[in-house]
Amino acid sequence: MAYYESRHQSGRHFLQIPGPSNVPDRVLRAIDNATMDHRGLDFGKMGTEILTNLPKIFQTRNPVLIFPSSGTGAWEAALTNTLSPGDTVLMARTGQFAVLWEDMARKLGLNSIMLDTDWRHGADPKEIAAELEKDKAHKIKAVCVVHCETSTGCITRVEDVRAVMDAAKHPALLIVDAISSLAAMECRHDDWRVDVTISGSQKAMMLPPGISFNAVSDKALEANKTAKLPRSYFDWGAMLEINRTGYFPYTPAISLLYGLNEAIKMLMEEGLENVYARHDRFGEACRRAAAVWGLDNNCLDPRQYSASVTTLRTPEGHSANNLRAVIADKFNMSLGTGLGALGDKAFRIGHLGDLNDLTLVGTLGGVEMGLAVAGVPHKPGGVQAALDYLAGNARAAA
Ligand SMILES: Cc1ncc(COP(=O)(O)O)c(C=O)c1O
Repeated sequence: MAYYESRHQSGRHFLQIPGPSNVPDRVLRAIDNATMDHRGLDFGKMGTEILTNLPKIFQTRNPVLIFPSSGTGAWEAALTNTLSPGDTVLMARTGQFAVLWEDMARKLGLNSIMLDTDWRHGADPKEIAAELEKDKAHKIKAVCVVHCETSTGCITRVEDVRAVMDAAKHPALLIVDAISSLAAMECRHDDWRVDVTISGSQKAMMLPPGISFNAVSDKALEANKTAKLPRSYFDWGAMLEINRTGYFPYTPAISLLYGLNEAIKMLMEEGLENVYARHDRFGEACRRAAAVWGLDNNCLDPRQYSASVTTLRTPEGHSANNLRAVIADKFNMSLGTGLGALGDKAFRIGHLGDLNDLTLVGTLGGVEMGLAVAGVPHKPGGVQAALDYLAGNARAAA
């Protein structure tokens, strides 16, 4: 039963929104440890362990900064630590999170060039290339893309964005929001030469909301030296300095750091390749179910399917919010709401973080029953298609 519920519902609540995600028992038990002295010897040891291992999740040899904030704070940290007032950033309106990030950029005093999309694709590298080619004076200081648009279920292929930046020989920074992709899909900070990778705790990192991350490149650290946007709480300088000894410049989110240490261990035990493969299977099983139901996948390009979230559109005239409400009421499961322009036309199935085949099968079972109860036209048999796929592609033995 959820912590705050107006009536008792037996069994565990299915939290299948695309973040915050379910927190595994191991992480919950770690978080449950007594608060310790954040200037004491033990904290320094734990801090060092975390700061040594966290970069492995980002596939970087450089430092990763940890902020006590949700992902939005990490967006702000990335922009204010690398850019100056009046700088131009190139962004793509791939969905609701890209819209919010651009809004922040403008509030911070940056100029933005915003490339439009239909919210059914990721950012188009060709359009990015065209803008960079036009920018002979190198006014564009950063290309900012959302790797996994949690609202639409589409990814932007970061390696393709990197390739067009290289081809254009453009010196802009590459800043990537990997909030709902880190630890679910490949995020190769070093190989893709991303300058800042932004992420958060509450998605595939399997933690509650409350801490966020900036992985940084050498080029981003160079840019930091001359970046003039005002920053204080989110300043990289003081944080990086004291992080060398395992400590933080202000009171860190100690309990969440216990959890982070445990979550990193779990991801390393499973192996990142297996973590990605697991998420891929969940995405594919979900899409197979949706295809049988006859529900429209919001993401139109198979190369851009997200492995963490599937956004499905309900047939014309059938409210996605009503479907979600029916499923919550009858089957004790939360699904993600349609965001921004998608509104009542779509719902989102989160399949990221701590889940296994049976969790996914239960989730899809809830959706199929919900479609029937809510009277949404569909063909039954989606769950069977997912079962067939999952059984036919059973997880390799550990
Ligand atoms: C892709 C993406 N970017 C940014 C955010 C904003 O993060 P937060 O809500 O943690 O501040 C979210 C939240 O869901 C997200 O999915």
